[in-house]
Amino acid sequence: MNILIREMNIDDYEEIMKLWMSVEGVTLSDADGKEEIDKFLNRNRGMSFVAEDDKMIIGAILCGHDGRRGYLHHLAVNALYRGNKLGTRLVEHCLIKLRQEAIHKCHLFVLTNNQQGANFWDHIGFHKRSDINIFSIDV
Ligand SMILES: CC(C)(COP(=O)(O)OP(=O)(O)OC[C@H]1O[C@@H](n2cnc3c(N)ncnc32)[C@H](O)[C@@H]1OP(=O)(O)O)[C@@H](O)C(=O)NCCC(=O)NCCS
Repeated sequence: MNILIREMNIDDYEEIMKLWMSVEGVTLSDADGKEEIDKFLNRNRGMSFVAEDDKMIIGAILCGHDGRRGYLHHLAVNALYRGNKLGTRLVEHCLIKLRQEAIHKCHLFVLTNNQQGANFWDHIGFHKRSDINIFSIDV
């Protein structure tokens, strides 16, 4: 397989949305409009990645930080390409970028019903927190 991992840019938006909408375990919201993703990519330059073969984008991940902690969002690999370490490689690319920015811890959110996703993160070395709940509010 001839697969390239490269930085995500906003021109990838339509293809990435197609991928995100096609996989289980990724929930999209009003934070995922083109303008919002463009803003995210600009605030976190060079930190998000796509995997593509000759024809199309087959994997994607968003990565950013707030100056203190790193965050990963929306990791997805096309179901036909899973099991080839693409998910791992996408995550590694992000962690390298975070290290370069002197960010020493990275968090991510997994839906409570996404057991497969949770198993993947556990398998590649992330640990599930049982000491934190997420609280949210509309602003
Ligand atoms: C999770 C996902 C990104 C994994 O992508 P992938 O490219 O198949 O993963 P990799 O090939 O890099 O897997 C790396 C390792 O994790 C293991 N693994 C992958 N998915 C796993 C799962 N669901 N449960 C347990 N282990 C898993 C692989 O067997 C591999 O193990 P190894 O290193 O011992 O060989 C992909 O299944 C996916 O897109 N799922 C749907 C979207 C999703 O749930 N994303 C996470 C949102 S929080």
